[in-house]
Parts: sequence; structure tokens; C-alpha cells
Amino acid sequence: MNGYKPSPVTQTIPVDEVLRGLRSPQKELPCKLFYDHTGSELFEQITALDEYYPTRAELRILREFGADIAARLGPACLLVEYGSGSSTKTPLLLDHLDRPAAYVPIDISRDLLEASAADLARSYPELVVTPVCADYTARLELPVDLPPHARRVAYYPGSTIGNFVPEDARRFMARIADVCGPDGGLVIGVDLKKDPLMLHRAYNDALGVTAAFNMNILVRLNRELGANFALDGFRHYAFYNPVFARVEMHLVSLADQVVRVRDVDIRFERGESIWTEASYKYAPAEFAALAARAGWRVEQVWTDDRGLFSVQYLTRA
Ligand code: AVI
Repeated sequence: MNGYKPSPVTQTIPVDEVLRGLRSPQKELPCKLFYDHTGSELFEQITALDEYYPTRAELRILREFGADIAARLGPACLLVEYGSGSSTKTPLLLDHLDRPAAYVPIDISRDLLEASAADLARSYPELVVTPVCADYTARLELPVDLPPHARRVAYYPGSTIGNFVPEDARRFMARIADVCGPDGGLVIGVDLKKDPLMLHRAYNDALGVTAAFNMNILVRLNRELGANFALDGFRHYAFYNPVFARVEMHLVSLADQVVRVRDVDIRFERGESIWTEASYKYAPAEFAALAARAGWRVEQVWTDDRGLFSVQYLTRA
């Protein structure tokens, strides 16, 4: 189980990865498959749901503490945003930065990247904006011709780090450390442990938007791989697993059935599930320990007044 939230982009589905996942004892599909155009729209709707607290809590933190966070970063920093998408949370930091050397948004969706970079450059005429089109989870290097800067600071809001299993999260943060160098910093959104009932509600909303978001994976496999999943034969199932401190999203088969994906028959027993997403929740000390294993030290943690969510500033250990 690994994953991240790429921007809406029509990426071809990795057939081998899908078949490998569906043939394993615990069937699974990568959560990056959620985010086609429809899935990205459904995710936007999720962020506005009453039950889904993370986005609102993070925005509150960024609005309240944006100036404090920016002060930590200091003057002339190079701000590198991982998975920048439409860069909606960027101004909350940029507005407070002291003469940033440049803004480097990284995203896999070229159209979205170029459009939002152009928007941002219009809003901040003094700012050097250097977009990089890349899969940010892969090893990457920044352009060599960036303006001189005091330090590189990565920006990774949204708590997407929780969609990686901890070992993958560690590896990813270690790669960010390589990109940012020994003086680098990282501003990251991290969702916190909390009442499991609140988590349960956040991933089982009353309007069924999260269910539709989860089911969209099967819709995609039918459309893009010619699979024949019966959509009324599966059901959204999400629960908090306290042993691993993660919300797990599954699609449960409601009957014994056989589904054809490409030329392969996949057998399901009634009650068997496909695991589609893990969303890890951290206590601050647990995240600090994970960060330390990736070469980072937590300098400061900002939370909302209910202690639901955190934005953290890390420097190199
Ligand atoms: C993108 N990511 C942080 C979301 C989360 O909460 O793990 C994705 C999501 N899955 C269900 N609802 C939202």
C-alpha cells in the first residue's frame, strides 16, 4: 500500500501494478488512481464536507500562523512546493515571506502547473516562478539556473504524507532532504491522532461523497482497462485501524464473483476487500521520530485550537 495525491491528470493506468495488486492475498489498488478528472472533483467536494476536518483545520493554521511560519524560513528562501496542483495554499505562505528568491512548484500535470504558475506570477510580479513538471515522488533535481538563495525550503501541505506507509514516507522525506541540502527546511501538513469516531465520520460522510470517490477507482478500471466490475457488487468501507493508526479505505465485494481485468479473471469471495487507501495519523512525537529517521528535526509545530491537525517546520538534523 503506497500512495500520494497527484494532480488531476489523465495518466495511463499502470496495468501491471493493477494486476499485481488484484492478485495479492490482500487485494489492493494504488490510491493515485483516485485522481482522474472526476476523482479530483470529488476530492474537492470532500474538502468542503462538514465531516472532513483536515482541509479547514490546515487553512485555519496557515491563516493564523502564516507570518510565524514565514519568519522561521527567513529572508531570500527558495520555496519548492511538492505536488503544487493549483497552488491554492501557496499565497498563505508567500504573502508573509521576506523577499523569496524564487518559487518552484513541482507537479506532474503540465497544464495545471503552467496555468497556476502563470496565475501566481501575475499576482506576484516581483517573484521568480520556475515550474518543474515531474513526478515529485521520484528522485528529482531542481534546475541549475535558479537565482541565488539563502536556503531551500520544501512546502508539502495537505497531509498527503499520511497516504504513504511510514517507510515510504521516510524515504520520500529523505529525498526532499537531498533536494533541499544541509541548510534546507520543510513545511509540512500532518494530520494528528484523534477520536476514532471523528475519523470514522470524516471518511464515511453522510452524503456519500467519499464512497463515490472510492468507487471511482472501479469506474476508471472499467472505462480505461475494459474491466467489468459490477458497481453494485462492491461497497465503500472505511474504518480507523488503531493498531496502525491509519484510516483504511476498502471496496468490499458483496458476493462471490469473478471480475475480468484485461485477460485475467480475478475471483472475489463475498466480504473480501480491495484495499484502496491508507491515511496515517500521527502523534507529534511519532512524526518527529519518523522525520528524524529521514534526516529532519522538527523545529516547531503549529496546531488548530482543537488539536486536530498540524503544520510543522523541519530543518536538517
Ligand atoms: C489526500 N489525502 C490527504 C486525503 C486523506 O484524507 O487521506 C485523501 C482522502 N481520502 C478520503 N478522503 C480524503
